[in-house]
Amino acid sequence: MIFRQLFDQTSGTYSYLLASRRGGEALIIDPVLEKVERYLQLIRELDLKLVKAVDTHLHADHITGLGALRDRTHCITVMGERTKADVVSMRLAEGDKLQIEGVALDVLYTPGHTDDSYSFRMADRVFTGDTLLIRGTGRTDFQNGDARAQYDSIFGKLLKLPDETLVYPAHDYKGDTVSTIGEERACNPRLQVKSVDEYVALMASLHLPNPKMMDVAVPANMRVGMAQDEIARRGWSVSAVQAQALVGRPDTAFIDLRERSERAKHGVIPGSLHAPYPDLQDNLRAGGMLHALAAAAPKRMLFYCAFGERSAMAVQAAQDAGLASACHLQGGIDAWEKADGALVSAA
Ligand SMILES: [Fe+2]
Repeated sequence: MIFRQLFDQTSGTYSYLLASRRGGEALIIDPVLEKVERYLQLIRELDLKLVKAVDTHLHADHITGLGALRDRTHCITVMGERTKADVVSMRLAEGDKLQIEGVALDVLYTPGHTDDSYSFRMADRVFTGDTLLIRGTGRTDFQNGDARAQYDSIFGKLLKLPDETLVYPAHDYKGDTVSTIGEERACNPRLQVKSVDEYVALMASLHLPNPKMMDVAVPANMRVGMAQDEIARRGWSVSAVQAQALVGRPDTAFIDLRERSERAKHGVIPGSLHAPYPDLQDNLRAGGMLHALAAAAPKRMLFYCAFGERSAMAVQAAQDAGLASACHLQGGIDAWEKADGALVSAA
C-alpha cells in the first residue's frame, strides 16, 4: 500500500494520500488548498491517478483543496451526507464504503466537533478528522458542535475499535503524527472522564478563540461545487422535469455514472445504462462502450450521477471526444427525486 501523511504548517492540518499500488487509483483525505501543487507533484511522482478527494468535515481553519483538485484532475469530491457544502460529487453515510481500486474504508458518522464529521476506517487504521485528536479532541463550540454527541462518537464508536488501531487525525499542533486507540483511551486527558456530563463540562470550560481563518474558510468551504453554468449555457443541461419526458424514448440513452453501491442504495432511472465515472475515458475511446453506442445509432446521450457534478464533467469529456449529443441531468438523482422522477432498483 502507498500511504503518505502530508502536513500543512499554517493550519496544522494532516492530509493523507492512499493508494493500493504505484500506477493505480489514489484518494486524498482533507487536502488543503495551498498545498494542491505539492499533492499533484507527489501524485505524478508516484504515478498515481487521483480519483477521490475527501473531507472529513467542513473545515473552519483552512480552505479545502477539494474544488481545486477536482478542477485539475477531474476527480470525484466526497463528503458525508450531512455536509452543508453546496455540491460534492458523492455523499457517504455510516455503513457506506469509501472505495478506490484496492482500498475500501468504512464510513463512520462521528458528529460532535461539527454535525457533519465523519471518520474513515481501514483494517489497521482510522482517519478521525477532528473528532479524536492525539491527546485531545476537536472543539465543540461552533458549527453545530455538540460535546454530548462527540462523547457518543468517541466512546460509542471510535474507542470500540481494536486497541492496536492506528489513529490518524486531521490536525496536530504538537508534532505528534500517529497514535492508537488503546493509547488514546489510556492517555488522552479529555477521555479520563467518568460520564458524559463530566465530558460536556470539560469541553464547556475550554473557552477557545475562534480560528483565524474561520470567517474566510467556512463560507469558501460551503461553495466547493463546480461552476456548471457554462455547461448549461452551451445547451448541455437537462432539468429533472425535462428529463422525465425522455424516459423510454428510443432516441435517448440515460447513462448512470454512479458506483454500484450508490445505484443499489438510491435506485436507477428506468432503462438506463451503467458506465461508472472512473471508466469514462476508456468508455469514450474507440472500442469503448460509449463510443460504440454513439456510433451504433444517433442517440442523445444523457449522463446522470448523484448531484450533477460527475455528469457535468462527463459531458465536457464526451463533447471533447466528439460526441456532440452528450448532455446531463442537472442536479443528478437528487434533483430527479425532488421532482418525483421514477426510480427502479438496480439490476
Ligand atoms: Fe475542524
